[in-house]
Amino acid sequence: MSAIPAVETEALAKRYAKVEALKGVSLRIEAGEIFALLGPNGAGKTTWISIVCGLVRATGGRVSVLGHDLATDGLAARRMIGLVPQEINFDPFFSPREALRFQMGYYGIPPNDARIMEVLDALELADKADVNARELSGGMKRRLLIAKALVHKPKVAFLDEPTAGVDVSLRRDLWTYVRKLRAGGTTIVLTTHYLEEAEALADRVAVIDRGELITVDTPHALMQAHGKKQVRLTLGQPVAGQLPASLTALGAMLDDTRKVITCAPPDGTMGRLLEAAMPLGVVDLRTEEPSLEQVFLQLTEHVKS
Ligand SMILES: Nc1ncnc2c1ncn2[C@@H]1O[C@H](COP(=O)(O)OP(=O)(O)OP(=O)(O)O)[C@@H](O)[C@H]1O
Ligand SMILES: [Mg+2]
Repeated sequence: MSAIPAVETEALAKRYAKVEALKGVSLRIEAGEIFALLGPNGAGKTTWISIVCGLVRATGGRVSVLGHDLATDGLAARRMIGLVPQEINFDPFFSPREALRFQMGYYGIPPNDARIMEVLDALELADKADVNARELSGGMKRRLLIAKALVHKPKVAFLDEPTAGVDVSLRRDLWTYVRKLRAGGTTIVLTTHYLEEAEALADRVAVIDRGELITVDTPHALMQAHGKKQVRLTLGQPVAGQLPASLTALGAMLDDTRKVITCAPPDGTMGRLLEAAMPLGVVDLRTEEPSLEQVFLQLTEHVKS
């Protein structure tokens, strides 16, 4: 753990006229992490990122980026970052090459064609370098946004739903690219609604909901703490009548075919479950590992209720 965090927010608050978008969120993201911010629509993820990137003013709390306080040392803080915004927002009349040239200039770096092509190449946009941005497909536009956020080699990259609308194979390529960036020393903070993406990529995730931080941990620890391994037992014959009490006591349930028993046995009771089910004639057994998606739904369950 490095002494200076890549990003730190303390009691970060944002009150809009009608809604408290952030209710005091304290988060510490270590340098070199891939960190995912998760939460339902309207949770406050984009607000948090926008404040940290200096686009929205907080109504309370403190932000620092690699030790630079946003309030007193904002320019230095902003130099360190790159942002892929959630909304596509570039000038449709510039080509990707021109857009990246401007972006470098904006960060005070002399435009460098080799670097521009390196980034476009990494995002599979090299053959589109000189077309008008409006001729790009939706997924290509999103990739151009990513290129813009990275061309100046930021120390901390914020990716707000970078893979929304990006096709499956390219999404995998982007994961590889994000890992490569991190290997090169960039800290990555991303939001996503694809839970398998967070599970595959992130060292740690934060779940926020209605402006409040619910939890921060590694995907593995969250699944250990909140997820349940499901067991599915298929029987040779349908069960006549009720399931034995020894099974229902462990939470086992029979499906409509009366031939499949599902159960998330409490810790240490797998043996008891199998023993109790054997006399019913088990012909197949499958287990399902807990997923981050299952944990996320459990942690944010009240939203839909
Ligand atoms: N400019 C604004 N003016 C007023 N309210 C806003 C503004 N921007 C965001 N909000 C509100 O703040 C809350 C948090 O919004 P935010 O965009 O941060 O959510 P989010 O977690 O990024 O959601 P999503 O997953 O849909 O992108 C929402 O209730 C939203 O309506
Ligand atoms: Mg958002």
